[in-house]
Amino acid sequence: MSGFSADWLALREPYDLSARNREVLDAVLAAFADYPSVSIADLACGTGSTVRALAPRLPVRQTWRLVDNDLSLLARAAGTAVRADVQVTAVPVDLNRDLEAALDGPVDLVTTSALLDLVSAEWLERLAVETAVRSVPLYAALSYDGRIVFDPVDDADADIVAAVNGHQHTDKGFGPALGPDAAQAAIARFESLRYRVAHGTSDWVFGSDDRDIQLETCAGWAGAARETGRLSLEAVAGWLTRRRDAITAGRSSIRVGHVDLFARPTGMR
Ligand SMILES: C[S@@+](CC[C@H](N)C(=O)[O-])C[C@H]1O[C@@H](n2cnc3c(N)ncnc32)[C@H](O)[C@@H]1O
Repeated sequence: MSGFSADWLALREPYDLSARNREVLDAVLAAFADYPSVSIADLACGTGSTVRALAPRLPVRQTWRLVDNDLSLLARAAGTAVRADVQVTAVPVDLNRDLEAALDGPVDLVTTSALLDLVSAEWLERLAVETAVRSVPLYAALSYDGRIVFDPVDDADADIVAAVNGHQHTDKGFGPALGPDAAQAAIARFESLRYRVAHGTSDWVFGSDDRDIQLETCAGWAGAARETGRLSLEAVAGWLTRRRDAITAGRSSIRVGHVDLFARPTGMR
């Protein structure tokens, strides 16, 4: 499965859903509790996981503009059925080129998930400035923060995690990526723009029965570690073989650190 394939996004969606930080989500819901309707722009929507997570919990009429540059994912997102009073429009936009166009028009809330760790410091700055000039809040969920905890541990884990975190900083289409630093950079930047920022962890927790997601995630990490050139093929293959054996035998659990944040302009509830 590739990094943004529909199959991978479907596999991770239930783990994303249960990982979302409750306090941060509650802050988002509370901010819009009195609104008769809400217009939301979801950046890098994939197949629409943020709509599915948020729309049933927002007790008001909603208009969603779903934005992505992958036409196949976007077509699936457009078909997301939620409720009759939730209107969904899918818009193809290359966010690296045309972020500003994605935010134009009436927007009460900007959402995104699993995007900030892909973007550069320069792009995050554009996002911060463009949301601040429009005085809109941002709910950014599930930014990977660099923490991976394996049980049982393996001698090669630390080298693999270091290589994965190095790979996280490579260009993912937005310039050199912030990777594990993204959430803290976003929190600091929005606070400097006088936004109030609620934030908390939203870790994936894979138990011993969650074999498919563990197998895919470890295979992805092995590929990323190899791409950095820091580790030998033998070292990475040996690690992956031991991990697969433990996962298949139901002896493996993994925690993957993520952070959610809700940044709202001062004065907003
Ligand atoms: C990790 S996926 C997250 C998808 C979705 N938000 C979710 O949580 O399931 C990252 C998404 O960013 C989109 N993406 C990457 N580069 C993009 C760009 N330059 N413009 C718009 N979307 C982009 C991908 O197509 C993919 O849907």
